[in-house]
Amino acid sequence: MAEAWYQDCVVYQIYPRSFQDSNGDGIGDIPGIIQRLDYLQTLLIDAIWLSPIFLSPMADFGYDVSNYCAIDPVFGTMEDVENLIAEAHTRNIRVVFDLVLNHTSKEHPWFIESKQSRDTEKSDFYIWSDTIPNNWYAAFGGRAWTYDSLRKQYYLHSFLPDQPDLNWRNPKAVDAIFSQLKFWLDKGVDGFRLDVINCIIKDDAFRNNPKILGSRPRPYDMQRHIFDRNRPESHQKLKMMRKLIDGYDQRMLVGEIMVELPGEPELAASYLGRFQDELHLCFDFSLAYTRFSALKWKRVAKRWYEAVGKHRVPTWVLNNHDLPRLISRLRGNENKARLAAMFLLTQRGAIFLYYGEELGIPNSKVSRSAMYDPLGKRYWPFHPGRDPERGPMIWSTGEGNGFTTGESWLPFAKAANRYSVENQELEDDSMLHFYRKLLGLRNKDSVLRLGLCSFIDTTCIHILAYCRELDEDQRLILLNMSGKIQTFGIPLLQDKDIRCEKLFSTHMVQEPEMDSLHAITMQPYQGSIYRLVSKQ
Ligand code: NOJ
Repeated sequence: MAEAWYQDCVVYQIYPRSFQDSNGDGIGDIPGIIQRLDYLQTLLIDAIWLSPIFLSPMADFGYDVSNYCAIDPVFGTMEDVENLIAEAHTRNIRVVFDLVLNHTSKEHPWFIESKQSRDTEKSDFYIWSDTIPNNWYAAFGGRAWTYDSLRKQYYLHSFLPDQPDLNWRNPKAVDAIFSQLKFWLDKGVDGFRLDVINCIIKDDAFRNNPKILGSRPRPYDMQRHIFDRNRPESHQKLKMMRKLIDGYDQRMLVGEIMVELPGEPELAASYLGRFQDELHLCFDFSLAYTRFSALKWKRVAKRWYEAVGKHRVPTWVLNNHDLPRLISRLRGNENKARLAAMFLLTQRGAIFLYYGEELGIPNSKVSRSAMYDPLGKRYWPFHPGRDPERGPMIWSTGEGNGFTTGESWLPFAKAANRYSVENQELEDDSMLHFYRKLLGLRNKDSVLRLGLCSFIDTTCIHILAYCRELDEDQRLILLNMSGKIQTFGIPLLQDKDIRCEKLFSTHMVQEPEMDSLHAITMQPYQGSIYRLVSKQ
């Protein structure tokens, strides 16, 4: 059997509205993505994941689907999507779609039928109640229950009232949902990113969530979500979905698991299934919520590796369409961003990148009046909205930055030209080339992709040090996460008869091969990757 491609893949997330516009309407589209596949190929990525492109009223920019088997005209046509899949495959790039299966749009024909009456075929495709049965809140504001005057009942929505939750306890609804998956599997899609997949089953008695003490701007964050998320039956549904997927060759499910912040890695990992019989991959966002620090990152990464275990595949991610971009979280510190990239791309398992991350594009500035995101609109100023991290890709200099010939739907990042692919191609030391080198190294080094990781103690708290090992082949990765020169030793390795051959470094400093692990000096924010070789 062929090795599973996802076990060491690099997946590049595209937010389609913001990647490449091909028709001048200021919004990215599928033909635009096709135009940029050659660029993506130069990054040596294994797959692209597209945030939703299906028919949608766009109340939550595609995370509210009104037809899973039709393409929203703003993005193109079914033919465009078929071309995209074919063109990507020609370049050995797999295609992963974003499926939002916890809820649909309120304009989905299933919901329109469901609200008509209490005894149609689709009446129980959604979750209805005569009264508001509990204290649940919606993540995007207000109660999780909204009254429908036609059906004269309340329906449940974990997000906007425009996004009614599907009833996964109804086998007919599950069948209907699964047939949407089959539609895309038959079209050759290589995998799905499953939106908030741990939310699909709700408590059958609708019990109240326990309250959390204190005060937070969003009522949703004032409860422990034990009855509207992570119900035990969701594992059973994921096992069913895995069976369906495994009927096809080399397909992959990666799940978004909604957890309490800063993260619940053990809970996330539970969705991989004890017998690797649920999701192939799942996200743990703990690292993205952890301050840039050697000690803290080590703790978080160790915990994630432990939660996943050696036989399952960990997923690593620092950026996505819901998080302020890492470089902005780091207040524009490019040195830190490079080290973070080095950390990410030297981990075992699956790596997820977000478009523009390879260019160091920061968040766009979006004023309150220009904001689209419903979360930001509701919780401004506590939540600045998610538009800033969804700014357009910066391809070239000049008007429209190669993204559009029209007016971009969201503003470009400030001083956009300096981040452009065009400029960065010309600078040897650019972020783009840095990512390409790292991606190239990972691509040809199975130890970096698959080797087990063990963190090692050094005599300095600012150094993040770890070894990767595969079939007795070893790599040592050292990251100085501080802005100061650090000199330190690695006690564990000192007595071993080994030498370090440098494979890669953030710094061009002429550094001899390391003979001694007693006194290593690293420049501020230096990161280096070594091959460990026996001295004999
Ligand atoms: C998680 C998605 O990542 C986010 O963008 C979306 O708004 C919610 N789920 C609701 O679908």
